[in-house]
Amino acid sequence: MEFQNLIEKRRTVRKYAAGNAVSKEDVLAMVKAAQEAPSWKNSQTGRYYCIMNEKDVARFREKCLPEMNAGKCENAVLIVSTFVHNRAGFQRDGSADNELGNGWGCYDLGLQNENLVLKATELGYGTLIMGIRDADEIREFCDVPESETVVAVIAVGVPGEEPGRPKRKETGDIVKFL
Ligand SMILES: Cc1cc2nc3c(=O)[nH]c(=O)nc-3n(C[C@H](O)[C@H](O)[C@H](O)COP(=O)(O)O)c2cc1C
Repeated sequence: MEFQNLIEKRRTVRKYAAGNAVSKEDVLAMVKAAQEAPSWKNSQTGRYYCIMNEKDVARFREKCLPEMNAGKCENAVLIVSTFVHNRAGFQRDGSADNELGNGWGCYDLGLQNENLVLKATELGYGTLIMGIRDADEIREFCDVPESETVVAVIAVGVPGEEPGRPKRKETGDIVKFL
């Protein structure tokens, strides 16, 4: 798919069609796309935990997501994204390279996650990035080590709706040429 089409086609999907499995092969293709993203000193600190089967997804939705999000990702698979903290943006002796500290790890994960959702779009799936989730419950559910920070949960599935494009700000309002 041509790049401009792909970025315009991607939409947040909050309803997924029943009976349409997402294959492990496709999830791996998404994670491989994520791995192509640039990262701080090529530190590649993003990690993914994939909840694939229906029973586990149902348990995760109940334990780890508030109702307002749990209701939006039935029939999807769920990908928890984390990053190994204190590495991107840090020196080997543990000192931060600048004031952003672990903001850089989060930045890198965001770059990876955009690749992931664009690849999902190319493969015909819809995605929902969720920032409203219970990080402590997720850590326990997925056995995420303490060395990682839990960030977004991404639902991936066959769209059961065709959302419109939420309005964007005027470009002139967010850019300044100096
Ligand atoms: C970091 C992040 C967290 C988000 N968290 C949620 C969420 O918890 N629940 C939800 O319904 N949408 C969530 N969204 C989706 C946004 O609301 C959505 O991207 C935005 O409205 C623009 O729509 P679009 O993705 O179709 O362009 C999140 C998006 C991002 C990038």
